[in-house]
Amino acid sequence: MDYLPLQIDLRGEDCLVVGGGALALRKIELLLKAGAAVSVVARACCDGVRGLAQSGSVQLTERGYRSTDSDGRRLVIAATDDAAINAQIYADGQARAIWVNTVDAPELCSAIFPAIVDRGSVQVSVSTGGRSPTLARIVRGWIEARLPPRLGALADFAAERRERVAAAVPDLGRRRAFWERVINGPAAERLMAGDAARAEGAFEAALAASAGEGTGLVALIGAGPGDPELLTLKGLRLLQEADAVLYDNLVNERILDFARRDAERIYVGKRRRYAGVRQAAINELLAERARAGQRVVRLKGGDPFIFGRGGEEVETLAAQGIDCVVVPGITAALGAASTAGIPLTHRDLAQSVRFVTGHRVNDQVNLDWPELVNPHQTLVVYMGLLGLAEIVEKLIAQGMNPQTPALLVERATLPEQRQIQAPLRDLPAAVEAAEVSGPTLIIIGEVVKLGIAQT
Ligand SMILES: C[S@@+](CC[C@H](N)C(=O)[O-])C[C@H]1O[C@@H](n2cnc3c(N)ncnc32)[C@H](O)[C@@H]1O
Repeated sequence: MDYLPLQIDLRGEDCLVVGGGALALRKIELLLKAGAAVSVVARACCDGVRGLAQSGSVQLTERGYRSTDSDGRRLVIAATDDAAINAQIYADGQARAIWVNTVDAPELCSAIFPAIVDRGSVQVSVSTGGRSPTLARIVRGWIEARLPPRLGALADFAAERRERVAAAVPDLGRRRAFWERVINGPAAERLMAGDAARAEGAFEAALAASAGEGTGLVALIGAGPGDPELLTLKGLRLLQEADAVLYDNLVNERILDFARRDAERIYVGKRRRYAGVRQAAINELLAERARAGQRVVRLKGGDPFIFGRGGEEVETLAAQGIDCVVVPGITAALGAASTAGIPLTHRDLAQSVRFVTGHRVNDQVNLDWPELVNPHQTLVVYMGLLGLAEIVEKLIAQGMNPQTPALLVERATLPEQRQIQAPLRDLPAAVEAAEVSGPTLIIIGEVVKLGIAQT
């Protein structure tokens, strides 16, 4: 280990920055954030540094550096563009046992600045020991994407309740387990969603049952239309934390790779030998796991609340007092439209868009047909493959122009995506000739003609 990661309390401590350019300014701002008393010595300085001096935030001395400037400092930053002066500052620091950081010169550093992920009370620092600041920045970006924006609030929440919990759960081992459940449980999830009142409620419930049973959580996550990269950051985080993942046939199995290795994966779709686990059984499975204190993820294709029966699952869980969060996903219509290059609304062509299900009940498609015939509206039909001929026939019978551009997108956003475009009247024949299997989505409306490279 070249450097020991250490967090230093610089509040009120005397720190010196030598140099007044943009790089110096960045360090000054960081030091000020940490509450340091900052002095700056520089021959010339940028507007930012001057502004800080004018507002009294830093003490500015406009002249060249002298060795005595380092006397009595806690930390000195060398940020001049003169290598000889920087070397002098480093030597002065060494002679005085003062930490010195020289911008962009690791060989002149007894202290280095890590890349920082700042979530208030929670800080993560990343360092490559000065070897590659770019790599450190990239790693920081990965962590930035992974950590919820309100993570700091969670640390504050825990700190405020620490004593109460210590009194209520005196045994250290049980207390640790309790905090783990809180931090991985509904209270934390509510807090990070900005809902302090429900976070408080969930915390109180957990404390009341301080053994902790019954504080599991179900997250209903929209997995998006297929491409794993279309999963949201929140969905990814919850998936990575899950003890059990229930998924169905529209979920790309590559998304399951994001789950922990030891997480249980339970297929509840209609395909393969499982022949479909009935909705009631899925609801029971979710509730059972959550009651056992597990973090359960229910992964659903697209968005859970668009033709996804997510509403029913939430209702059933809520009725049993089980905490449930819903994470939206990119619904198939949005995925298909964007990969086909079709804007679903357009100032001139479509002022509204309508999502309907073409699912057949008792061998027919029951829709409010007159409502659907509007030349300034885009119509997106989910589950319309089997009923396609009937849908087209009924729309035309209700007055839709048979030449209206129409497109069927198969396996949208996946590498095997196919698109079949034809005037509305000819779409069923074109689709039949192409031997489409699904899942498929049908987009009907003038906007379809704006689409890109159809195959
Ligand atoms: C039960 S619905 C679920 C919809 C999902 N909740 C959503 O928001 O996309 C299933 C239908 O969504 C459509 N669908 C889902 N994924 C698709 C994809 N990758 N490409 C085309 N259509 C898709 C198909 O019409 C499929 O029959």
